[in-house]
Amino acid sequence: MGDSPLKLGILASGSGSNFEAIAEAIENQQLNAQIQVVIYNNPDAKVVLRAQKFGVPAVLLNHRNYSREELDAEIVKTFRESNVDWVIMAGWMRIVTPVLLDAFPEKVINIHPSLLPSFPGIRAIEQALKAGVKITGCTVHIAHLEVDSGPILMQAAVPILAGDTAETLHARIQVQEHKIVVGAIALLAARSAK
Ligand code: GRF
Repeated sequence: MGDSPLKLGILASGSGSNFEAIAEAIENQQLNAQIQVVIYNNPDAKVVLRAQKFGVPAVLLNHRNYSREELDAEIVKTFRESNVDWVIMAGWMRIVTPVLLDAFPEKVINIHPSLLPSFPGIRAIEQALKAGVKITGCTVHIAHLEVDSGPILMQAAVPILAGDTAETLHARIQVQEHKIVVGAIALLAARSAK
């Protein structure tokens, strides 16, 4: 762990359990990284409370005040001011534009609750239930412009059980998301240490 830590900027729209998994892994020295700042877009997003708990600065950029490109330009500005090198979309419910992706080329990471390329887009868990697949899961990948596309860093499979609802299945998928998001960042840290 002699190499300099990866400087992360997190984008989160909701509960922030993936943010917390990353913050905990850093605290436990499982990950050679530091979270510079978390940006959230919903004023009542619970991720703010989790950020406070870990002493991470949280910045509200309310998407209602901006066009998609303007929002991404504000994100880039905030991340640059905080010396962010890698962007993690940890439950970021906005479509990103080239303004963000070109500012951090191949360095924007996304977490998606399906085994991509199956079930991209919104309601991935409902899509999997509706399709009747027996195994779904989650993916951490480098984000390209098309929604939920780009090179896959890590995946985990989750079986669909009889009687599963979107809620019960999501809860089991999230347990795996928390593991693979940390694993994928560790992979990036190891790669950049070479
Ligand atoms: C995760 O299930 C992720 O796959 C999806 O949004 C959810 C965010 O959860 N993109 P949380 O806010 O990290 O708890």
